[in-house]
Amino acid sequence: MDVGIDITYKEHYLNHELQLAHKILTPHELALFEKSPDPLRFLMGRYAAKEAFLKANSKGLFEISFTDIEILNDESGAPHIYYQGKEEFDVSLSHDGDYAIAIVIRRNR
Ligand SMILES: CC(C)(COP(=O)(O)OP(=O)(O)OC[C@H]1O[C@@H](n2cnc3c(N)ncnc32)[C@H](O)[C@@H]1OP(=O)(O)O)[C@@H](O)C(=O)NCCC(=O)NCCS
Repeated sequence: MDVGIDITYKEHYLNHELQLAHKILTPHELALFEKSPDPLRFLMGRYAAKEAFLKANSKGLFEISFTDIEILNDESGAPHIYYQGKEEFDVSLSHDGDYAIAIVIRRNR
């Protein structure tokens, strides 16, 4: 499978967002989380993108470390997804109300 999608729901993340952030975010992402005006929104988007990445790779939750996956925004705001530093997939993210959604697609080989 070369495509993956995931949706996250705010309620599942409330009250343990800090713990989860330390578990799934890279140091760079963690710095962005900490200075974000809406850290929970940021975390939900990253979590959705990382789950979508697993699906695009046909991998299970424990086969890939979330901290090997990094999503960073460029100067236009567009997100880029890196796995162990390599950018081989495209990602798109959206947020609305209590939900965030992400889709990840492998680039042409
Ligand atoms: C893309 C855009 C329309 C989305 O706005 P929205 O519908 O209100 O919000 P959504 O929740 O659906 O989308 C937000 C996500 O879109 C993505 N996004 C932002 N800018 C993007 C862009 N230029 N291209 C692709 N994706 C973009 C981000 O992943 C963002 O989520 P994140 O900040 O958590 O990573 C809006 O952010 C926008 O117009 N950005 C363009 C800004 C731009 O062109 N700036 C140029 C200055 S150099």
